[in-house]
Amino acid sequence: MIIAVDGPVAAGKGTLARSLAAELNLAYLDTGSIYRAVGAKILDKGEDPGDPVAALAAAESLGPADLERRDLRREKVGLAASTVAVNTQVRAALLEFQRNFAQNPPDLPGGAAAGAVLDGRDIGTVVCPEAELKFFVTATPEARAERRHKELIERGDESIYARVLQDLQDRDARDSQRVTAPLKPADDAVYLDTSTLEAGKVLETALDIVRAKGL
Ligand code: C5P
Repeated sequence: MIIAVDGPVAAGKGTLARSLAAELNLAYLDTGSIYRAVGAKILDKGEDPGDPVAALAAAESLGPADLERRDLRREKVGLAASTVAVNTQVRAALLEFQRNFAQNPPDLPGGAAAGAVLDGRDIGTVVCPEAELKFFVTATPEARAERRHKELIERGDESIYARVLQDLQDRDARDSQRVTAPLKPADDAVYLDTSTLEAGKVLETALDIVRAKGL
């Protein structure tokens, strides 16, 4: 079984995808971390994330340790990620790894996985169009910026709400307007608006939908 969870930045898709994986004995892949790892590698070298040669070289040299970096959630890494993610060749270079994870999920600590949950922007449309279930998780820009701002403050990072909102809207625009694999719901995606819902309620709603589908 494959479940696709797509949506814009800070909509709560990572929280939902991780919880669904735990509840349903599925392997979980946060595909944003792959793009973030490419962005981080480029920033390390002082290169420009918009430079196609640097971006492709970083994508092609990605290893498991790059995905474990502790600085992947930083705002500047997220912005670099959304810049490299516009590059068609970078996306192609990262596609096979994601598809292979979905088709052959790694074992879980307790044994074999029953399938996989992937979250990102193009899972339901491009990476796994065959997924049995596709969620598109949204929330208002203000609710998402509020969440991200709180998260940054709690982590001890500096944060200004207005700046977080602006960065998030810039990233949404870049992700939605790119030519290759833009952020958009699959035709058969189920919408979940998390603006006023607690994470537990979002999970409950999603699990009801999983059960209703007999999965
Ligand atoms: O989800 P997250 O915010 O970690 O993703 C970082 C960036 O990576 C996104 O803004 C998006 O540009 C890119 N991304 C993508 N396709 C995916 C996952 C992430 O283009 N499947």
